[in-house]
Amino acid sequence: MTEGSDGSSGQSSHLPSGRRGPMTDQPTTSFTLPSRYYTDPAIQQQEQTRVFQRTWIYVGHISDLPEPGSYLTDKICSQPIAVLRDRDGGLRAMYNVCQHRGHILLKGRGRISGKIVCPYHAWNYGLDGALLAAPMTQDMEDFDRSHFSLPTFPVAVAAGLIFVNLDPDCRAFDKELPGFDKTILGHLPGMADFVATDRMEFDIAANWKVVYENFSEGYHIPVAHPALSKLHGRRTTASVVEEKFQFYQGVGRDTFDGFEVQKDEPYLSWQLWPNHCMLSLPGSQHFIILRMLPVTPGTCHERADIYAPPGDQPPNLALVKRLFAEMFNREDVAIVESVQRGLASLGFDQGRYVADKADGWYSESAIHRFHMLLLRELERGLTAN
Ligand code: FES
Ligand SMILES: [Fe+2]
Repeated sequence: MTEGSDGSSGQSSHLPSGRRGPMTDQPTTSFTLPSRYYTDPAIQQQEQTRVFQRTWIYVGHISDLPEPGSYLTDKICSQPIAVLRDRDGGLRAMYNVCQHRGHILLKGRGRISGKIVCPYHAWNYGLDGALLAAPMTQDMEDFDRSHFSLPTFPVAVAAGLIFVNLDPDCRAFDKELPGFDKTILGHLPGMADFVATDRMEFDIAANWKVVYENFSEGYHIPVAHPALSKLHGRRTTASVVEEKFQFYQGVGRDTFDGFEVQKDEPYLSWQLWPNHCMLSLPGSQHFIILRMLPVTPGTCHERADIYAPPGDQPPNLALVKRLFAEMFNREDVAIVESVQRGLASLGFDQGRYVADKADGWYSESAIHRFHMLLLRELERGLTAN
């Protein structure tokens, strides 16, 4: 075991070692996660089964599923899934795989008018995933339609965001991430009524963790994002640091040309285990969520969705989108791809976490916390298997 009964201590002796030495459970003394964690296919496979298939993962917003029959499809580490709104208005999450011979059922996003019909041999399913009819099956023996429903799994909504968990026995979202929704609604009370204004996708030549880690520290901002640092004051004015999510509130600065920021307007950022980063820049009501999913050990797929109140978009929002898509994210992609090349090199194995006592966003404490949790979940999955 790597953990005590409280899930937080007693890990040191079981933490991995690299060429420089062992990791420790204190960020101020620990060497960083050894580079094999970013390049080894076996570790990536463990992450897939022990982390991504048993964790709450963002897939969309309730405005994406406005009426009964509305659906969206997605892939979580190659697992095809669908989320749809049932006749009674509730959300259902299920595997998007026909139970006859495995054809994928739904594509993209849209609305089903009646039933889910498989394009291969027309087995058809209700919005709750139950198999309703299967042509030419009348002479089959021992064929019980009720045994061929689409497998379902939990779905949850927090501040209008939809999350799914492929583990049917997972902890409820509210128990796993208590207070997460309040950190959003406290600043963006209309978030549940927001709509997607942009969706972007990026294929990145870096391990998913490198992207998440990059977002988890402000240490690089003054160096790597000179323009962003004009928008972001360095002071952290409020924070909520939980094991599986962190929220940091800073103060926006009005030193960026063309950006209208009221005095002390907040700059908000979140990290949500294991692969979500969120932010809301000063200047307009909006919410940007990034989700990284592994593809290979050295590559990942990033999705970035921007939400804002429906109706006329404030001028600042167009600038936010441009800055994010053409500047900050582009700068970050170049950084993380460079880091991945370094992690794959014989010339690097471990560095140090630059952590300070204040544990603010400008230090790398959150990266250490992320690694501790990752190692614990990998081990927990091992003992559960
Ligand atoms: S695979 Fe779907 S009906 Fe045959
Ligand atoms: Fe960055």
